[in-house]
Amino acid sequence: MSSGTASALAHPNIAFIKYWGNLDGSLNLPSNGSISMNLGSLQTATTVQFEPLLTADTLEINQQTQTGPSLKRVQNFMGHIRRLSKSGLFAHIRSESNFPISAGLASSASAYAALALAATAALGIDQTEKELSSLARLGSGSAARSIPAGFVEWHASETHAGSFAKSIAGPDYWDLRDMIVIIQKQPKSTGSADGHGLADTSPFQSLRVENAPTRLEICRQAILERDFAHLAEIVELDSMMMHAVMMTSRPPLFYWEPLTLQIIKSVQNWRRDGLQVCVTVDAGSNLHLICPFGYTQMVTEMLKTTSGIQSVMVSPPGGPAHLI
Ligand code: PMV
Repeated sequence: MSSGTASALAHPNIAFIKYWGNLDGSLNLPSNGSISMNLGSLQTATTVQFEPLLTADTLEINQQTQTGPSLKRVQNFMGHIRRLSKSGLFAHIRSESNFPISAGLASSASAYAALALAATAALGIDQTEKELSSLARLGSGSAARSIPAGFVEWHASETHAGSFAKSIAGPDYWDLRDMIVIIQKQPKSTGSADGHGLADTSPFQSLRVENAPTRLEICRQAILERDFAHLAEIVELDSMMMHAVMMTSRPPLFYWEPLTLQIIKSVQNWRRDGLQVCVTVDAGSNLHLICPFGYTQMVTEMLKTTSGIQSVMVSPPGGPAHLI
C-alpha cells in the first residue's frame, strides 16, 4: 500500500544529438532520436502528496506558488498519471531546482522526470524504467532522457510505448564535464514546447531528420570508444543543424546573442590549438562546453579572457532519476 506521498530526484541532461520537432506534438513523439548526458551537479527534487480533499493539483516551484501556464502544463501531465492509476485524486506538488529554470538549461527535463517518478511511486504504480521514460516524455520530451543513468539514447517511434530512452553507458564510463556558460539568466522568449511546433516550417528540417540516424551512430560510437575528437565534431555539427532549422523557421527563432557566437568561435579556435573542448547550444543563448575532466581548468582559464559571462557551472555525468 502506498502512503500517497513520495519524493524523487532527477538531473537535467545536455543533448549531444538534439531533439527538435515532433511526429506527434500531443504525445511528444520526436521526429528524430537523440543522445544526451545527464548533469550530475544539477538537480530537481520533487515531492508529490495526494490528498483526498483536494479538487485540483497545486504546484510550488522553488517555494513560489504557480498559477497560469506552468500549473496548467503540470495538471495536464497529472491527468496522464490519474488515467494510468485509475485514481481520481489530486496532489500538492513541490519542486526545488538548484539551477536557473527556463533559461535553456532543460529544467523541464529534470522536473518532469522527477515528477513522473514521485507521482507514480506516491500512488504505488509499478513502472519499468522504459515505461517511466515514456511517461516522463509526455510532460517534456527531453524528460524521457533524464530517467536512465549517464549517457542516454532516446528512440524515435510512432508509438507511445516505443519512444523511451535507455542508457548507452553509465555516468562513470567517461569522465566528461559540461561547463555551462551562463550569459543570460532571464527566461527565453519562445520555450522549446512552442519551438518544436515550428520545426517543420524550415526547409532544412527534413534533411536534418533524414540524416539523424548517421549522426546518432557516430555519436554512440564516439561515446563507447571515448573518442573525443569524433564526439566534438558531431556534437557541434548537430547543434548547428538544429539552430539552422530554428533560424529558418517561419517565424524564425534566433536564440543566440552576439556573445553566444563569439564563444562558439573561440571554442573552435581553442580546439584547433589543441584544447579538447566542443560547444553545444539548446533553445537559449547559454552555452554548454563539453570537455574531458583534465581540460576543465584550461577551459576555465580561457573563459576568463571573455567578458560578459555571468557564471559558469561545471557538471560531471549524472545518475538516473531515483526516489529520495
Ligand atoms: O524537452 P523539450 O521540449 O524542452 O525540448 C528540448 C529541446 C532542446 O533542448 C533544444 C534539445 C534537446 O534535445 O534537449
